Amino acid sequence: MNHFLDIHTTEKAALRNMLDSAQSMKDARQGRTKAAPDNEQPLAGHMVALIFEKPSTRTRVSFDVGARQMGAETMVLSGKDMQLGHGETIADTARVLSRYVDLIMIRTFDEDVLKEMSEYADVPVINGLTDRTHPCQVMADVMTYEEHRGPIAGIKATWCGDGNNVCASVMHAAAQFGFDFTFTGPMQLDPEPEWQKLVRDAGQSFKVERDADKAVDGCDLIFADTWVSMHDAQSARERRHNMLRPYQVNDALMAKAKDDALFMHCLPAHREEEVTSSVMDGPNSVVFDEAENRLHAQKAIMRWCLGV
Ligand code: CP
Repeated sequence: MNHFLDIHTTEKAALRNMLDSAQSMKDARQGRTKAAPDNEQPLAGHMVALIFEKPSTRTRVSFDVGARQMGAETMVLSGKDMQLGHGETIADTARVLSRYVDLIMIRTFDEDVLKEMSEYADVPVINGLTDRTHPCQVMADVMTYEEHRGPIAGIKATWCGDGNNVCASVMHAAAQFGFDFTFTGPMQLDPEPEWQKLVRDAGQSFKVERDADKAVDGCDLIFADTWVSMHDAQSARERRHNMLRPYQVNDALMAKAKDDALFMHCLPAHREEEVTSSVMDGPNSVVFDEAENRLHAQKAIMRWCLGV
């Protein structure tokens, strides 16, 4: 069963094939090649369930559109409106859904929910974000880097701010695709030691540098994300803003990176907080390409899950 749960738990060759497939479907759709693989509607006759226990714009729309472009039908389910939100076990929900649908994408809080869903489902399960990781986002990010700059292997990436779930998946990508990773942010928000070890064990450099200017010096790619994630208590907002303010990505910080360094953000962004509008809308920013590539990357992920 091809579940897509995380980047570090998926074979490198499969990840590379997914990115190639995503790019070829994007090229075909945009008329850059004659072949149009997704016109064959490889998911015709399939039903895809998209479960959201948290809000979403990009994940919800890109999965829905992507599945439909490939001929599938979709149902978008709100976790709170399902029995899942009223005490039915995850295992029972997984068993029941497997009798109706061919593929499940779930966005949830605790990664144990995702794991239990994948353990008991008889159909593939895709991680559409948990509090701990966001692999679909980062597959789109790797695709975006390579579209703009060529192979991501060997580059230096710097994460500015909170070592959150997106940061974790970038670190998984560093290990699997072979690039160096520097984290700059307050000590309280360091990425998990398990992910630090994963990057180092893969033979890549992992560094923590508290000085943001030094952290981005000469790097190829800068990431930022919101200072208060969906799973963070809103009561912590002021404290987090105070801690994270020195890590804002602004023009002065971008100027320390390579001239052609790219800026990425998974969105939604809080302009003038973690990133200034001058950077978001500037020449190094590829944030809307990342958003578009969610569509293409997830189409490839769905095809891999279903083996079509
Ligand atoms: N980046 C991302 O996952 O966006 P949504 O929360 O809007 O799905």
